[in-house]
Amino acid sequence: EKRIVVLISGSGSNLQAIIDSIAAGSIAGRIAAVISNRADAYGLTRASNAGIDTQVMDHKQYPDRAAFDNALQETIDGYQPDLVVLAGFMRILTPDFVRHYAGRLFNIHPSLLPLHKGLHTHQRALEAGDPEHGCTVHFVTEELDGGPLVVQAPIPVLPGDDAESLQQRVHILEHKIYPLAVAWFCAGRLELTATGVLFDGTPLPANGFR
Ligand code: GAR
Repeated sequence: EKRIVVLISGSGSNLQAIIDSIAAGSIAGRIAAVISNRADAYGLTRASNAGIDTQVMDHKQYPDRAAFDNALQETIDGYQPDLVVLAGFMRILTPDFVRHYAGRLFNIHPSLLPLHKGLHTHQRALEAGDPEHGCTVHFVTEELDGGPLVVQAPIPVLPGDDAESLQQRVHILEHKIYPLAVAWFCAGRLELTATGVLFDGTPLPANGFR
């Protein structure tokens, strides 16, 4: 059983999807702790309701990004995680932090990476006239939203869509692909190598699973 630490900043609906998937027996792991940089994140309530340890680490209490990331790393490592999961954690992480968790740090991003790295992805997909949009689970590397892809879920952009409607449909798929990727990792099926992601020892294409 793998040990997972989840980092959040907000609602934690992706955290909930992973909690539910573990409860359903689909993930050979347990969440050792949920850490939020915001005390008012609703995901903390979700974690407490599931009997999971929670920690609030307010980045504003630290002099700079490096100091915060060092403290965060120390707290995370106290739980000896096999996997660290960024689930709506809205902080950029230092290269040192990212390197420390190389091959065991996941993020979910609300776009079909490499399209629309960063924020406001739904609006930007609309403005670009993209025929499809979606979400991506990837390993985190030093390049922001640029790590090797594990799995993507596309949706068509429909006439009449706005950022809100896209966000809602993308969220539904996030809740499917994130538990899936975590399950694969916990089953030992995913490995990050110098040349990319291996699934059951076989290289995944650059887009990951789709
Ligand atoms: C999700 O849509 C996730 O893809 C996004 O934040 C949301 C968190 O929702 N992450 C990013 O934008 C990362 N840059 P949740 O708190 O309900 O899981």
